[in-house]
Amino acid sequence: MTKKPFLWGGALAAHQFEGGWNEGGKGPSVVDVMTAGAHGVARQITQEIEADKFYPNQTAIDFYHHYKEDIKLFAELGLKCLRTSIAWTRIFPKGDELEPNEEGLRFYDNVFDELIANGIEPVITLSHFEMPLHIARHYGGFRNRKTVEFFERFAVACFERYKNKVKYWMTFNEINNQMDTSNPIFFWTNSGVQVQPGENPQEVLYQVGHYELLASAKAVIAGKKINPNFEIGCMISHVPIYPYSCNPEDMMASEIAMHQRFFFPDVHVRGYYPSYALKEFEREGYKLDITDEDLAILKQGTVDYIGFSYYMSTVVKADAKNDHRDNIVNGALPNAVENPYIKSSDWGWPIDPEGLRYTLNRLYDRYQLPLFIVENGFGAIDELENGNKVHDKPRIEYLGAHIKAMLKAIDYDGVDVIGYTAWGIIDVVSFTTGEMKKRYGVIYVDRDNEGNGTMKRYKKDSFDWYKQVIDSNGANLK
Ligand code: BG6
Repeated sequence: MTKKPFLWGGALAAHQFEGGWNEGGKGPSVVDVMTAGAHGVARQITQEIEADKFYPNQTAIDFYHHYKEDIKLFAELGLKCLRTSIAWTRIFPKGDELEPNEEGLRFYDNVFDELIANGIEPVITLSHFEMPLHIARHYGGFRNRKTVEFFERFAVACFERYKNKVKYWMTFNEINNQMDTSNPIFFWTNSGVQVQPGENPQEVLYQVGHYELLASAKAVIAGKKINPNFEIGCMISHVPIYPYSCNPEDMMASEIAMHQRFFFPDVHVRGYYPSYALKEFEREGYKLDITDEDLAILKQGTVDYIGFSYYMSTVVKADAKNDHRDNIVNGALPNAVENPYIKSSDWGWPIDPEGLRYTLNRLYDRYQLPLFIVENGFGAIDELENGNKVHDKPRIEYLGAHIKAMLKAIDYDGVDVIGYTAWGIIDVVSFTTGEMKKRYGVIYVDRDNEGNGTMKRYKKDSFDWYKQVIDSNGANLK
């Protein structure tokens, strides 16, 4: 292991666990109008909040009223850090106000103080799949250059307020997952955008992506002025795309498909558009609003580290036609095929620990920046047995194998890794499906898909296991 203290932690996102969607002056966010779906059943985005519909994120697991109890459990678990996000709508309920909402700011003061008092460092994502609904409906989200200004104001309010409490920041969660233009919820949650009939989703993507990259760079520049010791990173979803075989055509197909994975981090890290993207804009005749001044800001506002999620890998075959577009990860890849060497979870997510070592090497070779694994985890059905036990061996196996692969990348390959935060350390609402039954936590929450349950928290077997992994600094994975 590295000599630096390693940030072992858990990861969460405001909209998936906080609840309290209309408390403390909070306004509705784009996620508050998303209904629940299921594996293979898309979540619906309603125009406004409809009284007869169930919106699982509005209450989630009610951390808003349980934060002291939950942080106590996180401390018992031995977490060194907690990665979470700030709900934009607690700070700017509509998004276009000039002054922040004091009650919202105070809520995060309380949470961060409680974490710090328990020896847990807050690691903060500014926007994890949410923005004020008002910005999305009235300004068109990140279709509109004005939203760059709104985001910058939000970022500055957070940086100013928490400058002595938070060191590690990330601007946008999984900014690149909207490259999968086949699933409308990605555009909606990343950018507050719904693609209209007749529009070319790819062209829309590059325009909204540019405004988001610009907003991120502006936030980095502003943040460094507020506290030069801040470490401000990007956050990408990294699903490596393997070639199906050593056929040079498969190899090239995977290389080209990987541009989808690298496009956003290339700009975040290098501060300019990669040549393959400029060629695509030219070839396709995309008319994008990108000014010289924007380009100078991108150059200046590059990130300090790369935060990324890793759950799975995927495969492309040059002559394949994608016939399983229900798999979200393959949705944007027309030539994706199953990997015959690995198994998948009940939600069809391929399980590939070796792919994490591969990813760490690939990202480190390309960017030479510290890496932070800010999400990795196993979504599965857990049963509460005898009223208080959850035996979640598959989760222990999944996490153990991935941590082992990470340690190999650090100790053997020399990759610089800041930390590892297991996704959904306490059960939360699933992002893609809106279900509660797709559980990731080492802490079980008694709540079901329909919103029934006591909300009581129970430690799973993985709780004790992860605790001793942290206590032994990764030496004891048994
Ligand atoms: C990542 C997101 O895509 O994966 C999280 O950053 C999300 O918000 C996680 O919850 C797991 O996805 P899901 O759909 O299983 O909850």
